[in-house]
Amino acid sequence: MSKSADAGLEALFAAAKAARERAYAPYSRFFVGAAIRAPSGAIYSGCNVENAAYPQGSCAEAGAIAAMALAGERRIEAIVVVGDGEDLCTPCGGCRQRIREFADAATRVHVAGPEGVRASFGLEELLPHSFGPGHLGR
Ligand code: THU
Repeated sequence: MSKSADAGLEALFAAAKAARERAYAPYSRFFVGAAIRAPSGAIYSGCNVENAAYPQGSCAEAGAIAAMALAGERRIEAIVVVGDGEDLCTPCGGCRQRIREFADAATRVHVAGPEGVRASFGLEELLPHSFGPGHLGR
């Protein structure tokens, strides 16, 4: 785990924190925001959206990825995930795979609390030996 220098990190953190304000999490009360910076420099954000039928809830990262894809972008340069509490709000297993789809060796995953970024990872650290588009010839 290492903190990494990232010029646009403050703006990306601000976007993730703002997204967290919109989180719909009446069941867990665990509010999460995520923001992706894509190669164009644009930022795409998302929040968790829970559901009374619990498994239908979705993570903040999934919302941010959907917004990125809708805009026609296909690569995650960096993503910031903002949660709360003492523990690092690292992406869940499913979201690690979601990020993997659009990641490369340079992609940075920054994990933050409301006060700022706490830790930064490469995707290989979070999801080693992963399965990806290359396995399907893409
Ligand atoms: N959650 C996220 O949105 N992203 C994460 O990285 C971790 C967990 C959400 C899912 C659920 O709505 C709540 O946090 C508690 O698990």
